[in-house]
Amino acid sequence: MGLLDNKVAVITGGISGLGRASALRYAAEGARVVVADINAERGANAAAEMSAGGASIEFIQVDVTSKESQQALFDDVVSRYGQVDTVLAAAGVSSSGYISGEVSEVEADPEERMFHNRMLEDWEKVMAVNVTGVMLTNQMAIKHMLAKGNAGSIVNIASIAGRRPLPGASDYCVSKAAVIMLTQTVATEYSTSNIRVNAIGPGFIETPMTANIRQSPEWMDTVMQMTPMQRMGQANEIASTALFLASEESSYFTGQTLFPNGGMFTG
Ligand SMILES: NC(=O)c1ccc[n+]([C@@H]2O[C@H](COP(=O)([O-])OP(=O)(O)OC[C@H]3O[C@@H](n4cnc5c(N)ncnc54)[C@H](O)[C@@H]3O)[C@@H](O)[C@H]2O)c1
Repeated sequence: MGLLDNKVAVITGGISGLGRASALRYAAEGARVVVADINAERGANAAAEMSAGGASIEFIQVDVTSKESQQALFDDVVSRYGQVDTVLAAAGVSSSGYISGEVSEVEADPEERMFHNRMLEDWEKVMAVNVTGVMLTNQMAIKHMLAKGNAGSIVNIASIAGRRPLPGASDYCVSKAAVIMLTQTVATEYSTSNIRVNAIGPGFIETPMTANIRQSPEWMDTVMQMTPMQRMGQANEIASTALFLASEESSYFTGQTLFPNGGMFTG
């Protein structure tokens, strides 16, 4: 018996990092998983790799910033799998210039990252993926859950950055605080409809998103100063949290954000 037997799961950002680790974990627990991501070629290759051992993991292309694209994703999933039971909104960017899988140079000029120098286009790009993207994923999933009358569990990936300020990352921090509040508000609206909505606020985790931090001794120093356990987390440690929130193991949780973060926020 798996924790997600007979469940249909949609994971945005599901071909890399936290989404990918969660997809493998969900499939191992019996779910049929759709990984949805922006790059069609990378997505098809990743899904082929991830399902090679027999796991039910399929790729569907999506741009989470587009309502039409998310609508098409969820319509497609429901027409092929019958319903959607659980969603993990893991698609996200750390900054406007971030492209998953590409290691960018550590920015030479911290002055450029100061709030007063930020460009409106960059702000809007981060909000489009991290806030509007998560909002649309929640909205499409809930529409289908209500239409089918099935119970649902939605998990949104926020960040510690939604709770503590990281200098130089005002856009990212605000976007993640928005995900925490979105989770609380939406959870409240559907608390009697058998649809639970929770979030995860990871600390620093080893994924492509933190590759440039791991390359910089100064940045690693800062991360270690913030992290009592003195190590970055692993993607599978976040996948365990996602599995808990997706499954009936968390049946009395809604509107919560869990913070797997190596001991931050204890003081
Ligand atoms: N890695 C960390 O330390 C950490 C910590 C806290 C929160 N997070 C959050 O976790 C989530 C996953 O990050 P990750 O570390 O796995 O990074 P990642 O880069 O490995 O994965 C992010 C995925 O999102 C996809 N994506 C980006 N824009 C998209 C769009 N418009 N449409 C569809 N897909 C899109 C990317 O292609 C990529 O596959 C993000 O929301 C991130 O902000 C990460």
